[in-house]
Amino acid sequence: MSGVSGNGVTKNTSRSSKIPNNDKNGRLLEKIDDDVLLVNQIRDKLKYNKRKDSSEIRQEKSSTDGDVPIDVAKGIETGNSEEDRDSVESEDEDEEQAWKEQSEYYKNIDTKTFRQYELACDRVKQFYEEQHECQTVAYNIQARINFKTKSRARMTIWEGLEKLNKLLDESDPDTELSQIDHALQTAEAIKRDKKPRWFQLVGLIHDLGKLLYFFDSKGQWDVVGDTFPVGCKFSKRIIFPDSFKKNPDFLNRLYSNKYGIYSKNCGLDNVMLSWGHDEYMYHVAKNNSTLPKEALAMIRYHSFYPWHHENAYKYLMDDHDKEMLEAVQSFNAYDLYSKIDKQYDVDELKPYYLELIDEYFPTKVIDF
Ligand SMILES: [Fe+2]
Ligand SMILES: [Fe+2]
Repeated sequence: MSGVSGNGVTKNTSRSSKIPNNDKNGRLLEKIDDDVLLVNQIRDKLKYNKRKDSSEIRQEKSSTDGDVPIDVAKGIETGNSEEDRDSVESEDEDEEQAWKEQSEYYKNIDTKTFRQYELACDRVKQFYEEQHECQTVAYNIQARINFKTKSRARMTIWEGLEKLNKLLDESDPDTELSQIDHALQTAEAIKRDKKPRWFQLVGLIHDLGKLLYFFDSKGQWDVVGDTFPVGCKFSKRIIFPDSFKKNPDFLNRLYSNKYGIYSKNCGLDNVMLSWGHDEYMYHVAKNNSTLPKEALAMIRYHSFYPWHHENAYKYLMDDHDKEMLEAVQSFNAYDLYSKIDKQYDVDELKPYYLELIDEYFPTKVIDF
């Protein structure tokens, strides 16, 4: 079991906590990440079937105006366009609306075609037990201090993708697709739907924060998995919610309140989400790119399933978050379901994406 010290920072103990740097651990990280996605897919499917049986879907869509958890396989509602100067400015109104529309390719997807949930269940549960125990307020503050006080590496985005890809280059050939395959599948699916170039780039780099795995991580629990706020009450809508009972913050007088250290509708920008590849890559992209705020939200919140899928923590949202939620949900289907697409030739696509990266990361070589 991992232990948490007085300042909340986990110490290396028997379960996992060394910085993983070999192909075996790399495969495990990949499997955990895939398992996490799969759990969410199964959860969506079950939820959808239940609702379909009771013929509630259409009624809910028309009557609750966005208050219902959105089913990825059935798509999302489209919304009004951004008018903020910092937001997406499309070339014409059609394009401005189109980027939010659901993909035709994933409307009727069968989640059973993905890996078997039964095989993954124990590992996923074990992973979340550790993650939910160790993601404390103190750990998160320390992780952010660590991030801001040093540069872990200086390289281009593409070099980062290649570095991340080494996780699987050395592993067995019959394992899951590599990170760069997933990045290209996601980006190509977005491109296939003629979404804006910034959106395609999000597909390419959204998981690049898993580079944390090579740097400061203490295991898998601070790199992958669903994210959630720390510093306020843990929602029952987070996966495996009972495992929070081992978290030192669970019984903390302040952190166990509904609002905790936050206030009503304070905005998610002011909320500390559990540290992992989303939060890390968000900061890297924010510091080094000209990507619009919708893109940054997609990167930052793509693993925040309790929010974008389960409708939790609405009381922390401000008006800006309502707009960003649409963007995050638009992205989610591509992240989840593009894995059924073909595997692309990296060398063939590389020139296109190098140009795309340069368009939004002007300094090219950046601090990770
Ligand atoms: Fe991710
Ligand atoms: Fe992903």
